[in-house]
Amino acid sequence: EETTSEKLVELAKRRGYFFQSSGAYGGVGGFYTFGPQGAALKGNVEDAWRDRFAVAEGNMEIDAPTIMPEPVFEASGHLDGFDDMLVECPDCGESHRADHVVEDNTDYEDAESLPIPEVEDVIAEYELVCPSCGAGLAGQAVDAFNLMFATNIGPGDSDPGYLRPETAQGIFVEFPRLKEYARNQLPFGVTQIGRAYRNEISPRRSIIRTREFTQAELEYFIDPEADEPDLSDVEDVEVTLYPASEQNAEDGDEFRTTIGEAVAEGIITDPWVAYFLGVAKPWYEAVGVDMDRFRYRQHLAGERAHYASDCWDAESEIDGNWIEMAGFAHRGNYDLSKHAEHSGDRFTVFKQYDEPKTVERATVDPDMSYLGPEFGGDAQAVVEKLEALAARDRSAFDGDVVEIDLEGESHEIPVEKTGFAVEEQTEAGEHVTPHVVEPSFGVDRTVYTVLHHAYREDEVAGEERTFLELDPEVAPTFVGVFPLQNDDELESEAKAIAAALRDAGLSVTYDESGNIGRRYRRQDEVGTPFCVTVDYESIEQDEGGVTVRERDSTDQKRLAIDDLPETLSAIRAG
Ligand code: GAP
Repeated sequence: EETTSEKLVELAKRRGYFFQSSGAYGGVGGFYTFGPQGAALKGNVEDAWRDRFAVAEGNMEIDAPTIMPEPVFEASGHLDGFDDMLVECPDCGESHRADHVVEDNTDYEDAESLPIPEVEDVIAEYELVCPSCGAGLAGQAVDAFNLMFATNIGPGDSDPGYLRPETAQGIFVEFPRLKEYARNQLPFGVTQIGRAYRNEISPRRSIIRTREFTQAELEYFIDPEADEPDLSDVEDVEVTLYPASEQNAEDGDEFRTTIGEAVAEGIITDPWVAYFLGVAKPWYEAVGVDMDRFRYRQHLAGERAHYASDCWDAESEIDGNWIEMAGFAHRGNYDLSKHAEHSGDRFTVFKQYDEPKTVERATVDPDMSYLGPEFGGDAQAVVEKLEALAARDRSAFDGDVVEIDLEGESHEIPVEKTGFAVEEQTEAGEHVTPHVVEPSFGVDRTVYTVLHHAYREDEVAGEERTFLELDPEVAPTFVGVFPLQNDDELESEAKAIAAALRDAGLSVTYDESGNIGRRYRRQDEVGTPFCVTVDYESIEQDEGGVTVRERDSTDQKRLAIDDLPETLSAIRAG
């Protein structure tokens, strides 16, 4: 028995939703082209996301380049930390993602989210076999493989660049300018919908894991001391949660609750994450994700990305497996601090106090006649270390000597040579490095879920039928218009109706080929909510009207031609 995914992938190719790219050259793993229906559906999902997460939330949208220079990823940690674990089969030479080997060969729960350092143990513990050739993999070395695609900027190789592995970095690096547009007022949010690239070791499951995909991300910048979300709009939103505690428990299971209760009971610990979980759930429902196959799962401690302090995923159920559609992470001030440190630019917001404050400030004024001979060319680095230490931890100067770390070596400097002093200053405000809360959506996986959850089979007049029960608000084609038969008059009336519906802003397919039953089936498979058929009554009688057939029920109604644009537009608008 074929799975729904197998049937869907076949339908997607036949009806122009998506298919593997560069097929004429044999295709290449992990790259997909959205056909006419898929591109339109994806566009509708992106528009719906923009309406909710940029426009309705009052956030700014930007559009940054997909290639960024190496220093960006040195700072962000991706150059060093954005690795997957790769295991090579000694027999056939094929490489596999270590955790996929686990998943493909055992029923090890949560395999896809195994904490990376444990993968090696798992490989040793389970007698694993190569998914390609069946050879034993136990005891094989596991290598780190960086997922970023590298390129060179300009001729030669002196300026390496990378295709961004997340759209987020395009927002973070522009923070010094973006904060100006936000007039230095926290909180504010910046969104971006765009491509991200990851050289996945084993791309799988059609558009669920690809090497080029679209993310819709919101980076919400907050003052951690002062900003609180208004949870009143989302506290009653019902959610299915699968917290880390349940995943660790023997008989752990997901359960239904509300956002308000989950916060009150400390299940969702971060109120900002709770807020965005509450905003996202009705959004997913509106674009057509089945809420009985949707949950929020909390990351286990070992599973979080290198920057995240708390993280929940939105997951959808696909043929019995849960897949991650989005991550909601609190990234702290990790990214902005790193970019400040590496670039020297200001990644802070100046926060004005209500009234000027008198504050104590620790400063250093080191004795260079001591540091120079002692540290040579490193003297300036020592000064910077002392300045940073004074700002961070005054008590380090309490004793006779202060300890600093220089390139891994510890040095003791007499406090009297540091010129350490504490002075009182009046300050109008302070520079705050904002914290970031990040709802990060995978658009392709949302599109896949919407299609999968819309997939239906039934019987109409004794014949099997396949249709997509897509929500009218996202369906790529809203209405099909057909002349009943090949007849000039019917065709010209049908074309006039199609034109009037397009003028009303609806996406219309005009189709005159094949018998009417076949044309209905074609539109059913595309998920077109309505079909309009023009027959002889339509043109011969005054107000003869047309037949409007509804996709799911296949019910047919007669509607006046003049009323069509208004009636159908109202349904589309929801
Ligand atoms: N900025 C945070 C970030 O990138 P992520 O969890 O790595 O977080 C966010 O990615 C979303 O992007 C995922 O929830 C998923 O929907 C999508 N995504 C990640 N890798 C993908 C891939 N190889 N193919 C398709 N979608 C992917």
